[in-house]
This record gives sequence, structure tokens and C-alpha cells, in this order.
Amino acid sequence: MTTFGRVPFPISLTGEGVQLREWTSEDLDDLVELLDEPDIARWTPMPSPFDVAAGIAYLKRAQQGRITGQRLQLAITADGLRPLGEVLLFGVDPGLKEAELGYLIGAPFRRRGLASAALSLLSGYAHSTLNLSRLLLRIDPANTASTSVARHCGYRLTGEPPILQEGPYGPSSLDTWELVEAHTGARKERLRNVPTRRYGRRP
Ligand SMILES: CC(C)(COP(=O)(O)OP(=O)(O)OC[C@H]1O[C@@H](n2cnc3c(N)ncnc32)[C@H](O)[C@@H]1OP(=O)(O)O)[C@@H](O)C(=O)NCCC(=O)NCCS
Repeated sequence: MTTFGRVPFPISLTGEGVQLREWTSEDLDDLVELLDEPDIARWTPMPSPFDVAAGIAYLKRAQQGRITGQRLQLAITADGLRPLGEVLLFGVDPGLKEAELGYLIGAPFRRRGLASAALSLLSGYAHSTLNLSRLLLRIDPANTASTSVARHCGYRLTGEPPILQEGPYGPSSLDTWELVEAHTGARKERLRNVPTRRYGRRP
């Protein structure tokens, strides 16, 4: 059992203007609608087209990941209801107290601060509750939306050699980003303004 295997089921995390909750089988249609999308096909390892069969397999894998304690996949919602995206924690190494995180947001819901809010919330939970001290992101440097989210949340490039991979779009490389503790306070301060940015009001 990993450190991560002690996470109770189900969990719900609320803060930063979002609510993260477990996926359920009732989310299948919304999941397919969110994930069957060109940017998600381009920047994540999701199958494309992402059809109902892919959705069923995805929800099953998420459920198995919770049972084995290998993965924590949470739907990003505004209020615990309709899923707008996903944030996940995987690749947990209890010895090194290390894990990787990932995120995606459905195309109609982007540029509202949702990925930043969800990543910040799950990073905080992973750090303080799961006692994971090294939190990592692996991002293609050409994915400017994702690198912006990483930087916004206090992650910084580690300088580790890029991870080379072959995909349907040809060879690519992934840089490793790590959450920098010193930036946690500043990040929280910035995120306090996320709802303001989301609705276009000035403080
Ligand atoms: C990457 C992704 C999750 C960003 O989600 P989002 O909710 O739109 O991101 P946010 O609204 O939290 O934006 C955070 C920052 O990124 C910037 N940003 C978001 N999308 C951007 C884009 N397309 N180009 C440039 N900057 C972008 C925002 O302006 C904001 O910057 P700021 O901190 O300076 O204000 C979303 O574009 C997505 O799902 N892409 C496809 C899947 C993917 O790439 N996942 C990550 C794989 S590593």
C-alpha cells in the first residue's frame, strides 16, 4: 500500500473557487464531451477520438486507481455537480515522497482560472495531507497554456533532462517542473484574486 492508499473514499476538496470530487458513472456523457477535443488529443495521452468506449475505460481506470491507491483522479466542478475538467495525482513514490500531477479543462471553460485553482488545491492537499514533498508536472514546452498554469501555481523548471517520447504528432519532449515551497504563500495570495479575474472585476 502506498502513502496514497490511505486516502479515504470518496473525497471532495473545496477551495480557490472550485470543488474537486470523485468521478462517477453518471459523468460518462460529460466526460466524453470534455475529452473528445483537439487540444486534449494534442497535449495529453488521451485516445482520440475519445468516444463512449474510451470514456467507460477511463472511468474504470480511475476507479481502479483509487482502489489500488495508485491514482487520484478528481473532476473539477464549480459546485460539486457538472464536471468542467479533471485534475489528477499519479506516479506516487512513497519512498521519495514524490508524485506527478496533471490537469485538463473542457474547451468552453478555459481561461477562467479553473486549472490554476484545481492544481493549487490538489497540490496543497498532496503536500499537507498526503505528506508528499516533491510534486512534479511534466509539460511539453510548446504547450504554453500548461506552462502558464504551472508558473502561475508556483511550479518551476527543474533543469532535469527532457523526457523524449513518440506520439501521433511525432517526437516530443516533456520538461519537468517542481512546486517550489518558497512560492506557496505568494501563490495563495494571487489565487485569492482568481474569482475576480474570472468575472472580470477589478479588486
Ligand atoms: C492547459 C489548460 C488545462 C489550462 O486551463 P485553464 O483553466 O484555461 O487555465 P487558467 O485559466 O488557470 O490559466 C492560467 C494561466 O495560464 C494562462 N493561459 C491559459 N490558457 C492559455 C493559452 N492558451 N495561451 C497562453 N496562456 C494561457 C492564463 O492566462 C493564466 O495566466 P496568468 O497566470 O498570467 O493569469 C487547458 O488549456 C487545457 O485543458 N489544455 C489541454 C490539455 C492540456 O494541455 N493539459 C496539460 C497537459 S501538461
